[in-house]
Amino acid sequence: MTRLSLRPLAPFGVEAAGVDLSRPLADDACTELLRAFYQHHVLAIRAQDISAAQFLAFARRIGPPQPHVIDQFHHPEDPNILVLSNVRKDGQPTGLRDAGSYFHTDYSYLAVPARATTLYSRVVPRVGGDTLFADQVAAYDDLPVAMKRRIEPLLAIHHYGNRHDLDESSRTAASPLNTEQKAKMPVITHRLARPHPVTGRKALYAVSGSSFGIVGMPDDEARDLLDELAAHATQPRYQLRFRYGVGDIVVWDNAALLHSATLTDPDDARTLWRVTVLEDGPAGPF
Ligand code: SIN
Repeated sequence: MTRLSLRPLAPFGVEAAGVDLSRPLADDACTELLRAFYQHHVLAIRAQDISAAQFLAFARRIGPPQPHVIDQFHHPEDPNILVLSNVRKDGQPTGLRDAGSYFHTDYSYLAVPARATTLYSRVVPRVGGDTLFADQVAAYDDLPVAMKRRIEPLLAIHHYGNRHDLDESSRTAASPLNTEQKAKMPVITHRLARPHPVTGRKALYAVSGSSFGIVGMPDDEARDLLDELAAHATQPRYQLRFRYGVGDIVVWDNAALLHSATLTDPDDARTLWRVTVLEDGPAGPF
């Protein structure tokens, strides 16, 4: 059996080798992977050949899965898997296309948000299809002391959507919901400078994407502050660009990162399976 080894990615993230997720993951290997994940924010495991059930079994080791509100693209074998795809079959979409093509944090519009998202790459386009990640711990650390003091007590108001693009026909808006799905979406708050629930390290939280206001602040002032923080937090110096091969799995820490899909040619096939797990229940021995 190959031994688990870890190789840091630049400027952050870690790639694990010697892992075969088609077999049960030993507890000590799982602990090592999770420790590396929380330290580096992004964990990549390349070239896996696994079923929907095996993918889900891996995701469950990180936290409890939460099906996406867009239920028309749930995987036929399990609603906890969301199919992301631009492929059409018999004129019908086979998955959700252009999902999350703007910086955001998964499920930041829920009261109990996402701990981690894991993608399993099934079909890789000829050109592009990368995911961008932005390190929100580093972005917070670099803020001037006066800004840290200003945002410390603030609660951001979140709901489903992308505050920078509300045009539902746009490829960089949040994926549109039907009336029933919209009715399920709450308006909630999260701290703007949010301590990581596992590591305790403070990060800017979802300053791009679902944050639409700040409790007790006039709308225009809140929007200016969120925009200023988002511009700071998504600078190229905080970004990792992740390039997929077929079978690659990537897991990211939503409490430490913003992320964005990148738009591809709609005729260049791209398909991934996605499971998002909540900040609920034990996170492991860290
Ligand atoms: C997402 O934000 O869940 C999708 C990311 C991607 O497709 O690259």
